[in-house]
Amino acid sequence: MEGAHDTQSLGPVLVTGATGFLGAWLIAALLERGETVHALDIVEDRRLLLDLAGQERAGEVAWAVADVTDAAQVEKAVARAGARAVVHLAALTIPPCREDPARGVAVNVIGHVNVLEAARRNGAETVLYTSSAASHPRGPLNAPANVYGVTKRAVEDISKVYFLDHGLATIGLRPNVVYGLGRAAGETAAISEAIRAAAEGRRYTIPYASSMCFQYVEEVVEVMLRCLAARPDGPIVSDITVEQETVDDLLAAIRAVEPGAQVDRADRHRPSPDVPLDDAPLRALIGTWRHVPLEEGVRRTIERHRARLETAA
Ligand SMILES: NC(=O)c1ccc[n+]([C@@H]2O[C@H](COP(=O)([O-])OP(=O)(O)OC[C@H]3O[C@@H](n4cnc5c(N)ncnc54)[C@H](O)[C@@H]3O)[C@@H](O)[C@H]2O)c1
Repeated sequence: MEGAHDTQSLGPVLVTGATGFLGAWLIAALLERGETVHALDIVEDRRLLLDLAGQERAGEVAWAVADVTDAAQVEKAVARAGARAVVHLAALTIPPCREDPARGVAVNVIGHVNVLEAARRNGAETVLYTSSAASHPRGPLNAPANVYGVTKRAVEDISKVYFLDHGLATIGLRPNVVYGLGRAAGETAAISEAIRAAAEGRRYTIPYASSMCFQYVEEVVEVMLRCLAARPDGPIVSDITVEQETVDDLLAAIRAVEPGAQVDRADRHRPSPDVPLDDAPLRALIGTWRHVPLEEGVRRTIERHRARLETAA
């Protein structure tokens, strides 16, 4: 992992959504820095973390199996961790929010409030959370395009109110399409699935055409580490990237790395984030960082899959 902050301790850090894609990658990076990490998720599944961090390091993580909609469980986990920083990643993605909006709102919004409450009551200095590019209002109704986006908009506003009411400074990042080894949940997991199929010599069709901000997972983790070292003096909300590329650009990058790859896309159009994106608040907070170009991110992901296949063989 590239990056600064090699000496400053960031922890103890409590990461919610630890079983998931971004959670496992972030925890692996924190462990690599020697930080004390506590995990929270509704299920304990360390498989991705084991892949990324190895048996010994993955075993160092204290794990709370807890539901973020349960305030008492969240409070207990934050207190037990003695967390200096809380990274809140647990959420339901677009499809489950569409299927069960009440549960989606409960997990994404009530869960967020429970995390903010536990953080402020236990004196956590930093709260970093993931909103989403889906939070941007758009179209003739000037509203997010789905329930998931509404929940993400809500948590941004609730975080701002927590600053007004309690002086709690938070950092909310709006990723768009993060890709890499281990991405399995959500509509845009198809991007990572296509790269995986190329690595494994399988045929794969991405079910849509679209333009999106592709963000390699290690770049997003680097941004998160820098955020954990920053001292915001207010409630920050920021996009991570403003640059968009197309699914065809992704397919070209896969073929450049893996000329024999049998990957293509369907013609169905998936709406793009056709709103002005703004990463200036993030740059003001953490400075500049290196963007991982699409072809490099694809190459690094394919190498990871290959290494995993070799270990399993
Ligand atoms: N991956 C992306 O491209 C992307 C893009 C935009 C925003 N985000 C946001 O980043 C965060 C992490 O994304 P991800 O890709 O790692 O998602 P993921 O689905 O892989 O991980 C989410 C984790 O949350 C956990 N979880 C769900 N409900 C819970 C509950 N009630 N209590 C405790 N844990 C619960 C799940 O078990 C899962 O491990 C989410 O907030 C997501 O909305 C991700």
